[in-house]
Amino acid sequence: MSDVPTHSVDTQVEELLAAMTPAEKAGQLTQYFSFGPSVGDGGPQRAGEVEEALGRGGAGSLLFVTDPAETNRLQRLAVEGSRHGLPVLFGFDVIHGLRTVLPVPIALAASWDPETIERGQAVAAREARAVGIHWTFAPMVDIARDPRWGRIVEGAGEDPYLGSVVAAAQVRGLQGGGLGTPERVIAGPKHFAGYGAALGGRDYDEVDLSDAQLWNVYLPPFRAAVEAGAGNVMTAYMPLNGVPATANRWLLSEVLRGHWGFEGFVVSDANAVRNLTTHGFAVDATDAAVRAVEVGLDLEMAITEPAYASLPAAVEAGAVDEAALDACVRRVLTAKLRLGLLDDPYVDEQRAAQVLNDPGHREVARVAAERAAVLLRNEGGLLPLDADRLGSVAVLGPLADSRRDTLGPWVFDFDLDETVTVLDGLRTRLTGVDVRSAPGVRPAQRRFPSVFDMFPGNTPPDPTDFDDEAELQRAVELARDSDLAVLVLGEWQQMIGEAASRSSLELPGRQQELLEAVVATGTPVVLLLLNGRPLDLRWAVEHVPAILDLWYPGTAGGTAAANLLLGDVSPAGRLPFTWPRTVGQVPITYAHTTSHEPQNQGRRYWDEESTPLFPFGFGLSYGRFTYSDLTLDRDVVGVDETLTASVTVANVGEHDADEVVQLYLHQRSGTAARPVRELKGFQRVHVAAGESRTVRFAVGPDERRYWNAAVREHVLDASTFDLWVGGSSTATLGTTFTTTT
Ligand code: NOJ
Repeated sequence: MSDVPTHSVDTQVEELLAAMTPAEKAGQLTQYFSFGPSVGDGGPQRAGEVEEALGRGGAGSLLFVTDPAETNRLQRLAVEGSRHGLPVLFGFDVIHGLRTVLPVPIALAASWDPETIERGQAVAAREARAVGIHWTFAPMVDIARDPRWGRIVEGAGEDPYLGSVVAAAQVRGLQGGGLGTPERVIAGPKHFAGYGAALGGRDYDEVDLSDAQLWNVYLPPFRAAVEAGAGNVMTAYMPLNGVPATANRWLLSEVLRGHWGFEGFVVSDANAVRNLTTHGFAVDATDAAVRAVEVGLDLEMAITEPAYASLPAAVEAGAVDEAALDACVRRVLTAKLRLGLLDDPYVDEQRAAQVLNDPGHREVARVAAERAAVLLRNEGGLLPLDADRLGSVAVLGPLADSRRDTLGPWVFDFDLDETVTVLDGLRTRLTGVDVRSAPGVRPAQRRFPSVFDMFPGNTPPDPTDFDDEAELQRAVELARDSDLAVLVLGEWQQMIGEAASRSSLELPGRQQELLEAVVATGTPVVLLLLNGRPLDLRWAVEHVPAILDLWYPGTAGGTAAANLLLGDVSPAGRLPFTWPRTVGQVPITYAHTTSHEPQNQGRRYWDEESTPLFPFGFGLSYGRFTYSDLTLDRDVVGVDETLTASVTVANVGEHDADEVVQLYLHQRSGTAARPVRELKGFQRVHVAAGESRTVRFAVGPDERRYWNAAVREHVLDASTFDLWVGGSSTATLGTTFTTTT
């Protein structure tokens, strides 16, 4: 919490409100984009329009400004332009770092390590705050069970329990103890709610979710973020069960503010208020603004002419209750005051460079990338590599030396010069080894352009002088003449993220051909993946001995990759989603229910297994773990009581490594049918080779409660439960316990 006493904040807010005109109030509720000169002609909102609004107190917030001098210049316009000297809030998408780029969010989730996530986001917040950003549109806490949806990369995957732990860690990292914590920013979990369940995985398309799915799967990470103190929430673009999320009274008033007691401010997604007309919901922009304000949508993020500009006239005409407008303004002003912005609206321009260049930040990014990587396959113990036995290594593939793609989507203020690709990392690490490289194939291109193409360097080059056959051959020959081939394949970063849904999960372009040709040389192959969604690896798992998923590992990605490959550190990340064999299986989750012929669960399609390629929670390490002595302190407890499960985890391998110990529950019977198993606890522990550890989990009512559609509320059934502990969602070491009323 801020040092500012709440009563003084409240009093100041009321004094300001009493002195403000409806136009000034509407201004406080309006957020404009302000792109720098590098973005085309300044983006859809011209600088002139934004500055004019600032000069008349017509803007309460700006987004996309990351230069501290520009922040101060614009802030001065706001402070001097508003009768009450009200500064603007600077918001930005600091999703996985600003200058120091962390692994993408799905990768952070794959670390299954809340401390790494918190530390990483604290670095992101520190850099953001240093350039004058007060607030980030993160974390994205949307559950994603359909990897065709490109935004799966921005979240924590498919699971509400993992998603909740990750959401809370992100909020703690970004926001610290609360609004006003030095070097932290306001966290804004998004997109409220259900956005990840877009029909067909098509971004922005409608979402129809049962209340049970919402309460049990899609809402828990939001609740966790709110409980962790998030100061803001962003609404989603799409309609939820027919009602646009941005003007959805049930979501905003009943669930968020009612059930969860959220006291922060709510922002729309970009243009989502105006979009209430494109939904066929609002008559016009005025109707859209009025209805959004009435459900407590505080701040409009506007791309074009703000709908909230019509609020003063609506007040005048009696079309909106001014008290509803005041409630929104109150929440926005409260955030500004709690941040201490009214006393100190400017940023220290000199200090910014020093913070952005802090070498400690790059170290945090490197460790995060190491902890996020997931080892999917390691036949015959090909990894870790022994540098002494390597004379030559061919580092191949179109992503092996792509700085921009190493960083992943949703970053804008990176420094490519300091970004370490896999090729850079291996060259530095493998001194004395002949490291050769070739892309093999040209960058694949999207069929339809990306919204991010307006940012320079965001689209992969399409070289005119690239001889496809000759380049493929060159790569194959390098592989043939080397002791080892490291292939770096995946998706180019603008193929994942917002408006980057796909109808297929295959390796784009001619990468599969390259992979097959390189494997055919007989040289041992290590496949490294840069990706944010599962890809169709059915061929690879049959033919490639080692596969390591690096995701988009960020600024220090190549250093992390080298450290992992050479065994300085063991991979131990785990999949935060079920990895399907083929796109035809999606949506897919491990936490499904069963009905008729459960014994044929893996044979639901006649042409392909319906089991995953890799299960949720899966990941290998250089250690080898066994589980034993699973015990419960009690096997009968009251429904509202807690029991403790303990298990011994031994590393019987030859390398020290981390293991992610996971606990799953299944309710055998009750007043609703429950999933076959659900994650209800995990701990990432380090176990030296030859050692063992005892890991304990508390299993209480929170782990067993669920929302029941028959009675339309949360319930705790008295039942018998199966409990498993192990290294993935297919854990077999199990026991049972019973709960009684
Ligand atoms: C649209 C995206 O949906 C949202 O996540 C993002 O924060 C805003 N644009 C601002 O860039």
